[in-house]
Amino acid sequence: MNSVVRNITVDREVSSDREVSSQEFRGAMRVLAGGVSVITVGRGKDITGMTVTSVSSLSVDPPTLIVSVNRESSSWPLLQCYGVFGVNILSAEQLDVAERFSGKGGLKGADRFVGAQWVTRATGVPLLAGSLAAIDCDVEEVIERHSHAIVIGRVRDVITSVPHTALTYWDGQYVAIDQNEDNLKLAEVSVPSMRALREI
Ligand SMILES: Cc1cc2nc3c(=O)[nH]c(=O)nc-3n(C[C@H](O)[C@H](O)[C@H](O)COP(=O)(O)O)c2cc1C
Repeated sequence: MNSVVRNITVDREVSSDREVSSQEFRGAMRVLAGGVSVITVGRGKDITGMTVTSVSSLSVDPPTLIVSVNRESSSWPLLQCYGVFGVNILSAEQLDVAERFSGKGGLKGADRFVGAQWVTRATGVPLLAGSLAAIDCDVEEVIERHSHAIVIGRVRDVITSVPHTALTYWDGQYVAIDQNEDNLKLAEVSVPSMRALREI
């Protein structure tokens, strides 16, 4: 099928015979570098959370974001019950928090929060002090699809700190971005790519 979108010709070959296996798809998604966040859910002692890379901005006006949450995770029932969640965007120094909230070491619930400082804002969900950004959200809408739920969060409050490092996940491992050490490399990749964009 041939379709023309703003002067760019796209050749679409849709084959009904080809089934993409989950393994093949997982392999493709491994190479998508993602910022690492921790989602927090619940209130008081009835809290838990999970490490995610699926956070993405939905709209800035109004401020909303999306995250996909596995419906078998321990966070899912608390997210449904309280209707609020926090998004904590991690710095490279918070790798230990990422590991605790991914279930490494077998920690569950409130035990995942031990060793870090947490604050609360309007919704009452725990927000990580010192994260690059902590975003307090009400659940606006949930779309349950396959194994996961796409959760739309309406942003109620934001706490930011000055970023020096960021934590990303790429090709099956955590990768730190350090503003001081990686600035030259980042400048090298951003300058040619900006040029390439202008040439399109
Ligand atoms: C880097 C990384 C990114 C992840 N991203 C997601 C995600 O976007 N959505 C999700 O449901 N699980 C994601 N997970 C898996 C959850 O962190 C993990 O299943 C969960 O914390 C453990 O489940 P439990 O809370 O039921 O013990 C990710 C794990 C890692 C290590």
